[in-house]
Amino acid sequence: MKAVVYNKKGVPDKLVYSDVEKPKPKDNVVLVQIVAVSVNAMDYRSMKMGMIPKLRIFGADIAGRVESVGNNTRQFKPGDEVIGDLSDHGSGGFAEYAVAPEKALTLKPANISFEEAAALPVAATTALRALRDKGNIQQGQKVLIVGSSGGVGTFAVQLAKYYGAIITAVCSSRNVEQSLSFGADKVIDYTKEDFPKSGDTYDLIVAINGNCRLSAYKRMLNPGGIYVMVGGALSQIFRSIVFGRFMSFGSRKMHTLTVKSSQKDLEFLAKQAGDGKIKPLIESTYSLDKTAEAMRYLNEGHAQGKVVINTSETNHLINFS
Ligand SMILES: NC(=O)c1ccc[n+]([C@@H]2O[C@H](COP(=O)([O-])OP(=O)(O)OC[C@H]3O[C@@H](n4cnc5c(N)ncnc54)[C@H](OP(=O)(O)O)[C@@H]3O)[C@@H](O)[C@H]2O)c1
Repeated sequence: MKAVVYNKKGVPDKLVYSDVEKPKPKDNVVLVQIVAVSVNAMDYRSMKMGMIPKLRIFGADIAGRVESVGNNTRQFKPGDEVIGDLSDHGSGGFAEYAVAPEKALTLKPANISFEEAAALPVAATTALRALRDKGNIQQGQKVLIVGSSGGVGTFAVQLAKYYGAIITAVCSSRNVEQSLSFGADKVIDYTKEDFPKSGDTYDLIVAINGNCRLSAYKRMLNPGGIYVMVGGALSQIFRSIVFGRFMSFGSRKMHTLTVKSSQKDLEFLAKQAGDGKIKPLIESTYSLDKTAEAMRYLNEGHAQGKVVINTSETNHLINFS
């Protein structure tokens, strides 16, 4: 099969489009023929930090068809259309086939495309966990979403709307309309307004991108408010991990999210997508041989929604914007 394999000595690229052996399913896994796989910030960051998957193939968010099932599996049958999150199961998604334990998979709603399905797993699960689990989001709360226009942010805005929050989104000028269309009640353009100085306060702040001082975020919390660090500049993530706990004295809490894959959450998100409650935004689709290019583009930090690889396309980029 074709796959994009990490090769430390690869020239000019360490990610090499190669022929490799198709995975052989064991008794407890399912073999999936991948149709689409989306790119996440963690793919590039893991590579940079030397965290290389065992098979040396990155890519966690897959959507495809079950080709065969192991003897000890029960939930799926050949031909089923599935969505998978391989982030806690060795990755391996930038390929034509991957094996997955059943708990990494859920059925794909028939009315969403494979590309839309592949856009869901890590980004939408991250948004859900930040809002619902760490953030304890409640109807009518004032929620600030910083970095509302990327993979995680576009799902965060839609899910915050689903939970009945009053949303202020932070993004740059070119994404203002996008955040409004997904349900933001107000949008702050970070290129024009220094939002931490506005004096506005919130019940929940979800920091997905950018780089802002923890003390500034804390000042923006209402009593009983919660701040959730999801991502952004590495310095900001580091400060949140190290100092967040110490800054959580009093009623205002500062949390850092580390997302784990969950079949239950993936089922919930797939249902929301199938019911039209959340809509994955796909900025562009690359062919499998252009995966390195797609990863580099995402790493620049300005993708609008998700970037997806289609394993059946070759040699071109489809732009949806
Ligand atoms: N904690 C976890 O478990 C977890 C899980 C998944 C992801 N993450 C992290 O979450 C972050 C976002 O992931 P993602 O997939 O959404 O990334 P992404 O798609 O690359 O985010 C790109 C978006 O961020 C916006 N952005 C860039 N700089 C900004 C700024 N200063 N203020 C506000 N928005 C800004 C860009 O909009 P403009 O072009 O308009 O600037 C762009 O639309 C990454 O750091 C990732 O590592 C963490």
